[in-house]
Amino acid sequence: MTLAAMESLKQQAGETAAGWAESGMVIGLGTGSTVRHAIAAIGRRLAEGALRDVRGVATSLATERQARELGIPLVDAADLPSIDLCIDGADEVDPNLDLIKGLGGALVREKLVAGSAVRFVVVADAGKRVSALGLRSPLPVAVLPFGWRSHLPFLAELGATVALRVGPDGSPQLSDDGLYHLDCHFPRGIDDPELLEMQLKLRPGVVDSGLFLGLATDAVIADENGVTVLRRP
Ligand code: A5P
Repeated sequence: MTLAAMESLKQQAGETAAGWAESGMVIGLGTGSTVRHAIAAIGRRLAEGALRDVRGVATSLATERQARELGIPLVDAADLPSIDLCIDGADEVDPNLDLIKGLGGALVREKLVAGSAVRFVVVADAGKRVSALGLRSPLPVAVLPFGWRSHLPFLAELGATVALRVGPDGSPQLSDDGLYHLDCHFPRGIDDPELLEMQLKLRPGVVDSGLFLGLATDAVIADENGVTVLRRP
């Protein structure tokens, strides 16, 4: 598939979800190349007057910048209000709408925002659909830089081959929150995502994982034949 064709799928998914935004809503604004299209469409609807009194909660500095450029008013994230509709991309979507997220480096804020949302809509191209989590994407695990190497034997014991995420100059990439990401490859997929999530969350120094389990209520998936809307079974 060409880059332009892929971009068009992302746009279709993003714009479909943006159509579900209503006046007066607090909207969680995810991070990444797919949700950017949803945010742009929300900005256009606001500018045209089709939407009013909407407030956004941005999940990254990049999203905050885009929202400000489009004139989408933002809530002070420290207050993290109840969110009517959250729209975000994903790296993997399984049949239960459980997700892997975080390849864009914003998973900690994304999980906080998605978890505060009444409706959490995932937008993705069909290439993100998997039969089981971990088959396509590594699982990002966000950790404090302090002691990050000490997690490697622990993660290896959980079955992962781990790569520290680095920037173009080869040095560790810092997230907006000053965290490192350990990208964990599970060669045969993740057997028991709930158990893995619990094991990760119990470990001091691990801030969060890219497993988003039981959070998504809907998914808008675009392929060559158009857009399919899935609801959590
Ligand atoms: C950001 O941290 C991620 O969770 C993104 O939402 C995810 O990587 C999907 O991004 P794309 O829409 O760019 O594929």
